[in-house]
Amino acid sequence: MIQISNVTKVYGNDIKAVDDITLSIKDGEIFGFLGPNGAGKTTTIKMITGILPIDEGTIVINDLDIAKKPIEAKRVMGYVSDNPNIFERLKGIEYLNFMADIYQVSKEQRKTKIEELGEQFEMIQALDDKIQSYSHGMRQKIVVMGVLLHNPDVWILDEPLTGLDPKSSFVLKEMMKKHAKNNKTVMFSTHVLEVAEKVCDRIAVINNGKILFVGTLEEMKKQVSLESSLEKMFLEMTENE
Ligand SMILES: Nc1ncnc2c1ncn2[C@@H]1O[C@H](COP(=O)(O)OP(=O)(O)OP(=O)(O)O)[C@@H](O)[C@H]1O
Ligand SMILES: [Mg+2]
Repeated sequence: MIQISNVTKVYGNDIKAVDDITLSIKDGEIFGFLGPNGAGKTTTIKMITGILPIDEGTIVINDLDIAKKPIEAKRVMGYVSDNPNIFERLKGIEYLNFMADIYQVSKEQRKTKIEELGEQFEMIQALDDKIQSYSHGMRQKIVVMGVLLHNPDVWILDEPLTGLDPKSSFVLKEMMKKHAKNNKTVMFSTHVLEVAEKVCDRIAVINNGKILFVGTLEEMKKQVSLESSLEKMFLEMTENE
């Protein structure tokens, strides 16, 4: 689980990217983090994953405070950043071995896992090619594969479905569902409402660094009390702020 308590992040002197947010993401749920561009999603995710220091408040992942126990907390997490353009000179397989080394995945376990993920994402053929020759979607897939090699309990994914073709998107969504079903945690950000509607158990809506809503999509529909599309509700919620 992820417990975010009264967390604030200010860039420079006055850009309050995240403004006193509190959220509980439970085991066994897929939690969607929704908001328009510049809302504060990536900033929040970077604080959860220990990449950005927290200015105020605390974040605890499976009983581990990210500020106090960063290494232990990072071990239980799998983080897919919003930028898959990394280690472009490595071959896919070299990158996966590098990730497996970092997370101390045994030779046997990584072999099984690479085969399994490679088949699911149709990446087996591409593993011997350099990442710089990959398409955006393929880069996205190799990053997701690298993150899942060590079987992390808590998945944190920043816009993971961007650039994936329908089949890979389906595969990843099914993986998220299976992970949550095993009573593990999945949090991902998106600005695509349809995606959230299909896979999320609960969502939080963020805008201008503030949480506007937390709950199920059903509850959100009631709260905005509109018959029209989810998108319209979403826009209304953000406009109200
Ligand atoms: N390194 C930085 N320095 C200064 N301001 C930043 C920095 N990173 C983000 N910001 C600002 O913080 C706010 C939140 O940005 P953030 O990247 O968290 O939004 P986001 O919800 O992830 O948006 P997107 O949907 O575009 O990815 C924005 O106003 C942005 O301009
Ligand atoms: Mg972002």
